[in-house]
Amino acid sequence: MLRVGLLTSGGDCQGLNAALRGVAKTLYEQDDDVEIYGFFGGYKGLIESDYQFMNSGQFSGILTQGGTILGTSRQPFKQMNDPIAEGSPVSKKDAMIATYHRLNLDCLIILGGNGTHKTANALSKAGLNIITLPKTIDNDLWATDMTFGFQSAVNIATQVIDGIHTTATSHGRIFIIELMGHNAGWLTLNAGVAGGADIILIPEIPYSVDSVIKALEARSKAKKSFSIIAMAEGALNEKEAALSKKDFKKYMEAYPYPSVSYKLADELNQHLDQEVRVTVPGHFQRGGAPCPQDRVLATRCGCKAAELIFAREFGVMVGVRNNEMVAIPLEDVAGKLKTVPRDHDLIRFARGLGIAFGDESY
Ligand code: F6P
Repeated sequence: MLRVGLLTSGGDCQGLNAALRGVAKTLYEQDDDVEIYGFFGGYKGLIESDYQFMNSGQFSGILTQGGTILGTSRQPFKQMNDPIAEGSPVSKKDAMIATYHRLNLDCLIILGGNGTHKTANALSKAGLNIITLPKTIDNDLWATDMTFGFQSAVNIATQVIDGIHTTATSHGRIFIIELMGHNAGWLTLNAGVAGGADIILIPEIPYSVDSVIKALEARSKAKKSFSIIAMAEGALNEKEAALSKKDFKKYMEAYPYPSVSYKLADELNQHLDQEVRVTVPGHFQRGGAPCPQDRVLATRCGCKAAELIFAREFGVMVGVRNNEMVAIPLEDVAGKLKTVPRDHDLIRFARGLGIAFGDESY
């Protein structure tokens, strides 16, 4: 008898269901004596023993579905040692460990991003058999070339830029399109290049408003009537990037704008005659069906996890490196962020194409 738990944690993304299906179908197909338990709402389901036995049929018809059939939630790692209820001697972490043992699980498969991996590593260190799968539209997980969800989000973000291009051209406007990605610029860089953005602003390259204005003026001089700025939600100007963590927190508490693109729009409006507009597609980037590449990557991740279960190889994250599925020790992944290297070839090529990054002088 093999008893396997499944949970999805953190922000959702495309491909979660495809990955769950990959694990479950492979297990049910290749072993007659398997029981799979799905935990609802991420780690919350494990903490509160909110789970259900799931038969093979429940994983049918979900390959193309966005979201997650198990539901998800964010459970901050720093709160894992907090008691489950006021006055309770049991911490959230202890409650999770207790649920795992009560159900007699042989292993727990956790689909998650950065925050999720810290908790997964802690559970693994506490003796639980854990395998994680790399999901996030941010593509910022260490040690894997790609996370599932990322390529679908790039598709959506690119479609947004494409759509904005036509209206920006008609009206001769400057558009700032703010894209997700948290503190990493992968999504904005890739969608920006795919959508032909004129300026790309990412957290890894602090920008100066002056440099952005100069790039816009250079376009006007070259008789380009419109401009598209792809801006990551985590982009920082040079002053913001120089602040200490503590000062940055204080600065953000008094931040008068809904998000970074509105601030930049305000600054551009003070210096330029051209109309500036902001578009923020937000969570739309995480929604809807996974693109074919994500269906394949998520399926490969799920199937690789099932192989690892049969091989009883635990304490690892499934990743993809040089197009090969690999198992990476959780402690090598937890707490590390994969940001865009400043010397990434896509940045160099984009600069070569004339795309500005807000750090150049003209
Ligand atoms: O990590 C995925 C992500 O979509 C980030 O790109 C974004 O910063 C964040 O989640 C939004 O979080 P929430 O869903 O909690 O609003």
